[in-house]
Amino acid sequence: MSNFPEFAANQARHMMQCWSSQEGYDPIAVDRTEGCWIHTSDGRRIFDLRSAHECINLGFNHPRVIAALKRQLEQVIYVTDDFATEPTGALARRLAELTPGSCNKRVYFAQSGAAAVEAAIKGARLFQYNRMFHEGGIRHADAPGQYPYPYKIISRYKSWHGSTASASSVSGDPRRWFQEPLTVPGVVFAPEANAFRPPFGTPENYVEENLNYLEYIIENEGGSNKVAAVILEPVVGSNGIIPAPPGYLRGVRDICDRWGLLMIVDETMTGMGRTGKLLAIEHSDVEPDIIIMGKALGAYCPLTATVFSEKVSASFDKHIFGHGQSYSGHALGCAGALAALDVLLEDGVLNDVEKKGQYLESKLRELAEKHSCVGDVRGIGLFFTMELVADRQTKEPLRKTTEKYSRTIVKDVSEFLFKEKNIYVPSDKFGIWVVPPLIVTEQEIDWFCAGIDEALDMVDQRLCSR
Ligand SMILES: Cc1ncc(COP(=O)(O)O)c(C=O)c1O
Repeated sequence: MSNFPEFAANQARHMMQCWSSQEGYDPIAVDRTEGCWIHTSDGRRIFDLRSAHECINLGFNHPRVIAALKRQLEQVIYVTDDFATEPTGALARRLAELTPGSCNKRVYFAQSGAAAVEAAIKGARLFQYNRMFHEGGIRHADAPGQYPYPYKIISRYKSWHGSTASASSVSGDPRRWFQEPLTVPGVVFAPEANAFRPPFGTPENYVEENLNYLEYIIENEGGSNKVAAVILEPVVGSNGIIPAPPGYLRGVRDICDRWGLLMIVDETMTGMGRTGKLLAIEHSDVEPDIIIMGKALGAYCPLTATVFSEKVSASFDKHIFGHGQSYSGHALGCAGALAALDVLLEDGVLNDVEKKGQYLESKLRELAEKHSCVGDVRGIGLFFTMELVADRQTKEPLRKTTEKYSRTIVKDVSEFLFKEKNIYVPSDKFGIWVVPPLIVTEQEIDWFCAGIDEALDMVDQRLCSR
């Protein structure tokens, strides 16, 4: 064990921390990780309630995954895609078979969620280009002669798809604003579908109203001549864990079909069992055209996938998929992902998520009963949030979207949980994320809920004394 964590000082001095000003960067030296826990050099044992940014669904250092990685390290780590390796081929096939729809899919591998989103957007635009120019497939010739092919991407407010140029441009999140006004052209935002705070409509009709408005946007953006695809998270992640309301995803699919648009679902955060199924889209009866997977897919390695349906893949049989990067199809990452799928599907981890999630939800609802600062408990599987509000009756939020970088009581909650309770849950903008590794036990759930209970006492007291 290191008593002198010089490496932490090096990291503090020389590493650029994400989304932060660098003064005061003070990373905590870690000796080892195991299961849901991080063991620090100064002897603390910290529970990771955000599963390392949702990357370690199986907990840290799962022995079956580590063994597979070690085996692969001795064989082939990476060769270009002019060569084939056992794990790369096997994973491409496995994802083609496990994801909804025909198995005749193709998978593009990258190393970050954002890069997988870039591939999805480019793939969708090239698909539409091929359809128009090579296959004469203009569906609605209601605006003939218009330049040049469908390229617009409809995304939604309250979404996050990553930090690279296209990915942040399709993100309805304040982090996009760092990029503006130089965001990539051709992105239009639709409202999110949110049961707790519907942007418009009534609790009875907000889904229908939302879908009507989506269709209105598509028509007024040029319809099939101009719009290539709709991209969405089936459960909104970074912007507050908002599950799609019943009927919404089906409605989006139908609209995409009516207008000849591709439906892209971004499962970077929701995939690999997080919601109780391998993919969150499986809770609906919808087959997307493009599926993005990342984070926990690579199981400790940066490995992400853009899964193209049979229809989209076929477009590139004879026309070039004009996209690529070094390390695509990385054999070590693919071996990790295959082992992670085995653990999820064969060792029963996925089977237990729903039951554990129900237990977790019941505990969170008890806390919500007790604490008036909790406005909403929502989520699915082991993907939950408690949204905190200044006033439960009016649902007055603790902050506006434009105040994303200002300090609020939510930051105090995460600091309290970290310093006093050894629970790591990075500050969220709306409330408390409860996203443990899928291997969490009921005892661990009881333990961290007791810590959250104390944190909520603090919030209640502070809000009352305002
Ligand atoms: C839904 C979604 N898409 C894409 C990304 C970007 O992934 P990465 O940070 O690996 O680029 C994220 C990251 O949080 C995400 O939640």
